[in-house]
Amino acid sequence: MYFYDANGDKLFQDLMNCEEYYPTNCELEIFSEKTADICNAIIGSGDPFDLIELGAGDATKSTYLLKYLLEQKADFNYLPIDISSNVISYLNITLPVTLPGLNITGLNGEYFDMLKKASSISGRRKVIMFLGSNIGNMPVDAAEQFCMDVRNHLSPGDMLLIGVDLKKNPKTVLAAYNDKEGITKRFNLNLLERINRELNANFDVNQFEHYPTYDPETGACKSYLISKADQDVRINGMETIHFVKDEYIFMEISQKFTVQQIDQMAIKASFKPIAHFFDSKHWFTDAIWVAQ
Ligand SMILES: C[S@@+](CC[C@H](N)C(=O)[O-])C[C@H]1O[C@@H](n2cnc3c(N)ncnc32)[C@H](O)[C@@H]1O
Repeated sequence: MYFYDANGDKLFQDLMNCEEYYPTNCELEIFSEKTADICNAIIGSGDPFDLIELGAGDATKSTYLLKYLLEQKADFNYLPIDISSNVISYLNITLPVTLPGLNITGLNGEYFDMLKKASSISGRRKVIMFLGSNIGNMPVDAAEQFCMDVRNHLSPGDMLLIGVDLKKNPKTVLAAYNDKEGITKRFNLNLLERINRELNANFDVNQFEHYPTYDPETGACKSYLISKADQDVRINGMETIHFVKDEYIFMEISQKFTVQQIDQMAIKASFKPIAHFFDSKHWFTDAIWVAQ
């Protein structure tokens, strides 16, 4: 969550538009081409609901659903949750203009704190959205625990719409985290710059190299920053961190899954998977799970 200050939000948007970063385009294809099917599954028998999005970002993909739901006159409130205050103020200001009639309550904070707040605001049935394979930004054990924690905030019949990046050709995966323009590199280095800005540190970002890896066996795609030299970094004038040349900082994981693994994760967390939507290349899936 520390990646997303205003600079990180902008870099992530640039990344979504870059050629090699396929997950956004795949999920965008699913949301734009299967809008009615996804919305009909969410609407179900038509009871009013809260559509709660965890880590909404710029909500480009969700906007397809929101527009269709409004056209269908579905009775729903949209509650985007994001740790970035920049994101929430952007959504609160822009969405009511682009989507007239939308009931929106943006919630700025951490997923579960805000999920509790959402429950205190309304007792309607919940449809949670967790898109962009954000679930992959956790190691597998933590992802399973995350799904259980989400389930514990839901009642039987509530839903989770979850977007997950699938295992595929290793070169395709690696290229997405090693783009030619160097956006992923800048996205990672921004975290060091953020530590400089907010914690008064003195990282020299030119002394760190971006190193992404993908292991097709485990499905773990990881990014590291490698120290180019022996160096000391001072944080807030109090703490000194020594890096030896070639020492690494583990920055992020983007785990890839098979459909079978995703279904198992649902069942383990007491959900029933009821639908899977795929892009034409079968690189990405959005699944609908119902809380049991
Ligand atoms: C990878 S972006 C995805 C944005 C969007 N869902 C999409 O698919 O394009 C992740 C978003 O989740 C937010 N986020 C990350 N960790 C969070 C946390 N623990 N609590 C709340 N928001 C978080 C970030 O600020 C960012 O906007």
